Amino acid sequence: MSAVATYTSLAEEILALKRERKAIILAHHYQESEIQELADVIGDSLELARKAKQFEGEVIVFCGVWFMAETAKLLNPDRIVVVPDAKAGCSLVDSCPADQLRAFKKRYPDHVVVSYINTSAAVKAESDIICTSRNAVQVVNSIPLDKPILFCPDINLGNYVKQQTGRDNMKIWPGACIVHATFAARRLTQTRIQHPTALVAAHPECPAEVLAMADYIGSTSAIIEHCVNSDVPEWIIMTESGVRHSLEKGAPNKKFYFVANENCNCSECPYMRMNTLEKLRECLDTLGPRVELPAEIMERARLPIERMLAL
Ligand code: 13P
Ligand code: SF4
Repeated sequence: MSAVATYTSLAEEILALKRERKAIILAHHYQESEIQELADVIGDSLELARKAKQFEGEVIVFCGVWFMAETAKLLNPDRIVVVPDAKAGCSLVDSCPADQLRAFKKRYPDHVVVSYINTSAAVKAESDIICTSRNAVQVVNSIPLDKPILFCPDINLGNYVKQQTGRDNMKIWPGACIVHATFAARRLTQTRIQHPTALVAAHPECPAEVLAMADYIGSTSAIIEHCVNSDVPEWIIMTESGVRHSLEKGAPNKKFYFVANENCNCSECPYMRMNTLEKLRECLDTLGPRVELPAEIMERARLPIERMLAL
């Protein structure tokens, strides 16, 4: 069978299974284009969390990484939530184990814990409020100025928020994203020399030296919206290259350049890219791997997410 015929038959099977299971497919912008094409909703972590909350069917298929699916489960305790590959993790989640956060809280009991959505459900359960890259500045600004904050676990996003809010009573956990934190300012400089009229859009998980060169800083969806709607015809995009799908659909006449990071000589998240069409079909068929969380963690972890969504 040709590659196109294989794709079409797999896609048809997935859509038929989706109807049978009364499922919705949510896909993050960092998924392969072929998965994004089959999704009911494509978005950044905040949009997908909101969408998961409004959903009315029985099964949520989360094409993203595990912590995002956990968030969907926390907001939909009675629904089945599955992920194509259970090993789709995140380096930020790994950098902040719940027992270490508990030890910090014992030492600094007066700190308000603001956790990035890229954390485990167990860490969310220890947090006062959650934020995403889209609303982190707003969330930190919602906390009274005299309250000290622990921001975890992304050091680059934390430093960016600290700078934007002018807040000096903020400790930042030393975690990082293996994709964004390894984008080198040196490579961005080379790309700017090659494309001198292009502007730079960057995700706030990038290092401060990269953010200092950015003309626009925002979450994945915010970058897409901004670059598609601006009058600027050429952009250098400092985030995962899965966003190319929506950028080129939204603005087919514009040019988008990506800067390979120093790890893989690409701009792909190895965790996000573990999900494939074959695994998506399999997980709709078997309804697994399934997100299951202890009731006590569900109860405690939902609160800080609800606080964020209420802002
Ligand atoms: P967004 O909030 O922009 O979706 O970012 C999530 C993420 O994992 C970025 O690496
Ligand atoms: Fe985690 Fe970075 Fe991958 Fe986003 S891109 S899921 S932060 S490892």
